[in-house]
Amino acid sequence: MRRPLIALALATAIASPALGQNVSAGSGIAPATVANSAGRPIGFSGTVPASGVLVIPMRDASLPANTVDPVTARAIDTAIAAAKYEGKQGSMLSLRGIGGYARILLAGTGNEGDRASNIRDAAGKAAQELKEEAQPVALAGSLTQNEAAAAALGFALGQYRFDRYKTVDKKAPPSQSVTVVSADSAAAEALWKSRYAALAEGVALARDLATEPANVIYPESFVDRVRAAMGTTANVKFEVLDEAAMRKLDMGSLVGVGQGSRRPSRLLLVEYNGAGAQAPLALVGKGITFDSGGISLKPGAGMWAMKADMSGAANIMGAVLSLAKSKAPVNVIGVAALAENMPDGNASRPGDVVRTMSGKTIEILNTDAEGRLVLADANEYVLATRKPAALINMATLTGAIVGALSDEYAGLFSRDEKLAASLSRAGSATGEELWRMPLHKNYVEDMKSEIADIKNVVEGGGPGAGLGATFISFFVNKETPWAHLDIAGVNWSDKGGPVNPKGASGWGVRLLDEMARTWRAE
Ligand code: BES
Ligand code: ZN
Ligand code: MN
Repeated sequence: MRRPLIALALATAIASPALGQNVSAGSGIAPATVANSAGRPIGFSGTVPASGVLVIPMRDASLPANTVDPVTARAIDTAIAAAKYEGKQGSMLSLRGIGGYARILLAGTGNEGDRASNIRDAAGKAAQELKEEAQPVALAGSLTQNEAAAAALGFALGQYRFDRYKTVDKKAPPSQSVTVVSADSAAAEALWKSRYAALAEGVALARDLATEPANVIYPESFVDRVRAAMGTTANVKFEVLDEAAMRKLDMGSLVGVGQGSRRPSRLLLVEYNGAGAQAPLALVGKGITFDSGGISLKPGAGMWAMKADMSGAANIMGAVLSLAKSKAPVNVIGVAALAENMPDGNASRPGDVVRTMSGKTIEILNTDAEGRLVLADANEYVLATRKPAALINMATLTGAIVGALSDEYAGLFSRDEKLAASLSRAGSATGEELWRMPLHKNYVEDMKSEIADIKNVVEGGGPGAGLGATFISFFVNKETPWAHLDIAGVNWSDKGGPVNPKGASGWGVRLLDEMARTWRAE
């Protein structure tokens, strides 16, 4: 009677790694093996279909010319007048029973600002509105090629869903396509295929990584997920440092953060070479796969959100994926400083002193200020081995930045005016906006330790986000243009936005993609 049971146990143990489990890392049983459901396929056409759902971006109360036949147009005009609809940005009017259409959805863009961005946002909102709509969808309204490609991007971002763990009441995803209509549909499609489809894929990767729970995404599985997403993309090289390799390099700061966890830390470097020999742009992200605070334990309420404390690293990997898959003419190196911050008998204690790869010493006064600790070694490693032309950190670093800027802006800290200007411009162009924060030279004095070179926190408050940024700046040589983006407020959205359903936003994938393509020429 016992034999079959043993055989079953053996079979399960053998099958486990294939199911994405890691028994040695103590991750138990994977919650699902299915993928998230696919979104609507996105296509382009020169003509407006006469049935299904029609989405029309509206500047004001007047219907764009030549979108529908005159009889249908008159019926829509009557409905617009009756509803006093004005096409204000973000407003929507849903109409049924008009012409041959199952539904007509007017999506307001308003008349201010960049037209393509407004259309992208309207399409993103429409995608969220139509997430349970079974009919095929068309989006039309005198769109130029740029506007049509932007609409496709907005729709792709807006229809993102994370449903792989739902087994009860799982809503059937719409399988019918969405068609974007433009007189220049071939050019719009080319722009989508050559650039924006990869960008949407990069954003989805970033959102997936942040949304996945910490029993699924930990340092090793983060690396696996990024490898799988990159697939066989050309001109991409991986380097992965395990704990033994990091110990050999004396990365005491990074290794120290992960030493209270059963899941070993990793330093992941993904290099995309699309521009020959020039020095790369280095993007270095905080990749704390769960931040319990360590021995300086966080309170329980809301602690679950710290599964997304690897968003900096995730968003950077999304940007590198987008640049590589769209064959951008740039050299970029994405770095993920991966560790899990847990309390345990082997965890770092408040008061411990560690040393980084270069020999600088740090007094850890609070184990919950761990992001800056993993970034210190990651920065030193990429600077020493790759000599980048500039270095950008991205991290969910401080609660203080959430208090200052909430979820409308990420904090930008930089000691290089040109780099700061490039980032700010890319932020405005993509709608992922930055607000410049100060790095006063006196902050350096505040961070000095009594017994080591530098301490990781200043007790008793102070400018928390700026002190965190100052700490990181200590691990970047003065000659390398450097900036740090504190994304603790923007990486997750409780209410959602036009191009992101509520949850992980993948904030900064689009900004970094744009910036990497433009900054050298500015
Ligand atoms: N991951 C947190 C920062 C955070 C807070 C991100 C809220 C997202 C939402 C970070 O590791 C942290 O704990 N920071 C401390 C620093 C403090 C100890 C100096 C903080 O902000 O309280
Ligand atoms: Zn953290
Ligand atoms: Mn922390």
